[in-house]
Amino acid sequence: MIKKYSYGTPFNTESVVKNIPQQNGEIDFFDVTKTNETMQFAANLAQSDIVYGLGQAVRGINKRGWIYESFCSDDPFHTEDKSSLYGAHNFLIIDGEQKFGVYFDFPGKMTFDIGYTDPDKLTVTPLNANLDVYIITGESCLAIVKEFRELIGKSYIPPMWAFGFQQSRWSYGNADSVRAVADGYQNAGIPLDTIYLDIDYMVDFKDFTIDDDKFPDFESFVAEMKARGIRLIPIIDAGVKIEQGYDVYEEGVANNYFCKDKDGNDFAAAVWPGLTHFPDFLNPDARKWFGAKYKKLTDMGIEGFWNDMNEPAIFYSAEGFDKAFKSVKNHSGKLTNSPWDFFELKDTFARLANSGDDYRSFYHNTGTQKVCHYDVHNLFGFNMTRSAAEGLQEAVPDKRTLLFSRASYIGMHRYAGIWTGDNHSWWGHILNQLKVMPSLNMCGFLYSGADLGGFNANCTEDLLLRWLALGVFTPLLRNHSAIGTRDQEFYRFKHKDWFANFVKFRYRLLPYLYSEFLNAVENNEMLFRPLAFDYPDDESCKTIEDQLMLGQGLMIAPVYTQNADGRNVYLPEGMTKIRLKADGTITQTDLRCGYHYIKIPLNELVFFVKHGYTVPLTEDAQNTDAMDFDINPETATFLGDGDSCDLLYEEEHPQSAEQSALVKKKRIFR
Ligand code: GLC
Repeated sequence: MIKKYSYGTPFNTESVVKNIPQQNGEIDFFDVTKTNETMQFAANLAQSDIVYGLGQAVRGINKRGWIYESFCSDDPFHTEDKSSLYGAHNFLIIDGEQKFGVYFDFPGKMTFDIGYTDPDKLTVTPLNANLDVYIITGESCLAIVKEFRELIGKSYIPPMWAFGFQQSRWSYGNADSVRAVADGYQNAGIPLDTIYLDIDYMVDFKDFTIDDDKFPDFESFVAEMKARGIRLIPIIDAGVKIEQGYDVYEEGVANNYFCKDKDGNDFAAAVWPGLTHFPDFLNPDARKWFGAKYKKLTDMGIEGFWNDMNEPAIFYSAEGFDKAFKSVKNHSGKLTNSPWDFFELKDTFARLANSGDDYRSFYHNTGTQKVCHYDVHNLFGFNMTRSAAEGLQEAVPDKRTLLFSRASYIGMHRYAGIWTGDNHSWWGHILNQLKVMPSLNMCGFLYSGADLGGFNANCTEDLLLRWLALGVFTPLLRNHSAIGTRDQEFYRFKHKDWFANFVKFRYRLLPYLYSEFLNAVENNEMLFRPLAFDYPDDESCKTIEDQLMLGQGLMIAPVYTQNADGRNVYLPEGMTKIRLKADGTITQTDLRCGYHYIKIPLNELVFFVKHGYTVPLTEDAQNTDAMDFDINPETATFLGDGDSCDLLYEEEHPQSAEQSALVKKKRIFR
């Protein structure tokens, strides 16, 4: 059951698709304190209560014990001391003596103090007192998630090929370097479906331009790669370079499509292209205009995009830069005797990036109202991506496109997926990814994944292999790394065949994985679940944060520590242990419920199938175009002990048709 409570004059975020009548009277479960300007929601937490949710956030699956802030942030250090990452996902479930879900539909900054100040209290504080709050009750956490997902609408479905393995790097800067990556994978016998074009494919980082010197005859190049079964995925950034003669800039200025400063001038701030203007994605006309630009690339054969820097990231504004210089100048020639002065000076420029002052200094015009960006900050990336999705739907209605974004708000999940931004080649970030997947799924973000191998810092072969052993199960499986870091394409490493074995297994699993994904979309299920969601009465499951249930029949428990020879795994019931060995053979062993130490060498992949389920594997191929998704029971391999399984699939993939009408089911008997 869902109850809606409204306070003040909420901004319509368009995150919710169902019309829920407004309740009068006091909200359930929370004490509310309210003045004209501010308000606070407080609830007591019993000692055994678990708090799930918040989508993309640092720390555990159980969010207790920290203070989080919803404020889309471009921060490449995803460490425990942080309070915000790129997404703002204000949905929580409190699971304990009282069980309920709560969604705070609020586009501005919001603080969730979950037992940080007082270990037995949850306190939620929005920036101001205008918001909708939905209270969702149900018999189980899963039932609450389902109900919430119905409220926010069905998740985005990418094309099937977007489940293939994807390779990225900042940047493959010209056509030959892209060809070399394709060759590298092909020669190593490692399947590959896409290669990404990071910002260097553009002219001076100008959106919707292509540098002909680096990519001569781009359209033919796209076709050449497609003929090899590889799709190119260009990046689109939120900021539009200020440059006379650049059509996107000139059209934006002429039509008032950019965000304005307090004096009504186009707001200017620097990102990769230097000084840019930001399209006013909260304005329907500007959204339509920007979204229509993607057609320039789809007309050249492009079938997918990643939207970036859309928190929006701001390196500095003219005003901020000026102020910083002035303060530094004041010290010029005077040797300070105070370390505090020194630290102040040192941080003066670092603090310029993504500053609250800048976010407070520009405005949106929604067509009906002018709003300060700061108050609706969390809707920017969502609406950039919605603009792209709507543009793509017009440009290529006859096929699904791949689209994912860095910044997000709930509601964006109907238009696209997300990737989890600039992580590091750190062992802890494998575990971070594992923990974030169910939280994202709760909020409808099903097509998601992390930069495999880590974006920042140098990757090692063992880290990459262990990360891939998790990645083979995530919908978005993309290896990406930053400029200046060690090359981390799989074929660069000594044991190419180990990588090939894992990636081939991913392809063999694709009919099942895609089916489970479609099932999660169609039935508002979570693809990844904490064990406690499936086994609510099993006390041991409540604290397990390094294993996940996947789809209907699988459990995964990847290794995420260096130099480990295996790990402890808890089986809430008897299951079949599946082991993919280095030579590609697969063994299946029954294990009893309880704790087990499972040996998992670096070149083996281990996971578990619940009794009564079966997972069919098809043949692998160099890419999804070359694969046969029909399972032939005569030749297929079956994992687990079930005698049949239902596979969902789509025969055609248009984006404009009603999604569910396209999903079909077939039963496979082993
Ligand atoms: C941002 C993105 C990263 C990209 C880089 C250059 O840091 O998060 O993925 O490679 O910008 O475009």
